[in-house]
Amino acid sequence: MQRLQDRVAVITGAGSGIGLATARRFAQEGAKVVAVDLDEVAGTKAADEVGGLFVKADVSQEDDVIRMFRTAHETYGSVDIAFNNAGISPPEDDSILTTGIDAWRRVQEVNLTSVYYCCKHAIPYMQRQGKGSIINTASFVAVMGSATSQISYTASKGGVLAMTRELGVQFAREGIRVNALCPGPVDTPLLQELFAKDPERAQRRLVHIPIGRFARAEEMAAAVAFLASDDASFITASEFLVDGGISSAYVTPL
Ligand SMILES: NC(=O)c1ccc[n+]([C@@H]2O[C@H](COP(=O)([O-])OP(=O)(O)OC[C@H]3O[C@@H](n4cnc5c(N)ncnc54)[C@H](O)[C@@H]3O)[C@@H](O)[C@H]2O)c1
Repeated sequence: MQRLQDRVAVITGAGSGIGLATARRFAQEGAKVVAVDLDEVAGTKAADEVGGLFVKADVSQEDDVIRMFRTAHETYGSVDIAFNNAGISPPEDDSILTTGIDAWRRVQEVNLTSVYYCCKHAIPYMQRQGKGSIINTASFVAVMGSATSQISYTASKGGVLAMTRELGVQFAREGIRVNALCPGPVDTPLLQELFAKDPERAQRRLVHIPIGRFARAEEMAAAVAFLASDDASFITASEFLVDGGISSAYVTPL
């Protein structure tokens, strides 16, 4: 499929996980990929692999965000897709009773303020073009509560979801679609390592997933490519859940 032929796509957090899988998928579908990451080695590798451009940026810094969209526009002539995906979930962010203000603020800045900057500075390009697709990465924890809390992370993703909804509505008649991707738990190296060491911890989560396993990053990339493409032309302001059924489940299959 070449649904994204010659579209210019800026992907944040493109060096790893969901961002990397999406860079690959976008390139397969014909897009020109601008791979953004804080990690220069991983970001360069991703950009080289997909024949795209690497821009080193910290998405929690407004000047960096302005520069990354400007570079994309100067290099390729448009900004058609913004996948605002970079995010962190550090161990210091835990129960509200133990999470300090510094950890709280850092997570808000990287996960939520970054999406505010990315949307703020991508939308003017899209307004001038009269079209564009923005996908912001939220999480299933934006719609469900968890007893294994990461309080700032959850609050940040709730913010991403509400902001996405509002922007999707505000810019709907200017040809700009804004959707939130809400992934369920994805089988990343970090998750594997954690759960290989602690099978009980994995089981505590797996029991809630009707499909019976964690997602693969490629499955997120497929959903993002759909949302980015004209196949999703009537989808905006949505909370697009790709969660294996978690958020709809009461009793799961044995
Ligand atoms: N993995 C999951 O199970 C899961 C589930 C739901 C939502 N998410 C969300 O999906 C997104 C991607 O997660 P992932 O699992 O692919 O993560 P990952 O850690 O594999 O990749 C994140 C990338 O973002 C980069 N990054 C971090 N901070 C940055 C910053 N300030 N500026 C620029 N780049 C930065 C990192 O260097 C890394 O390459 C995140 O927003 C995460 O919260 C992940």
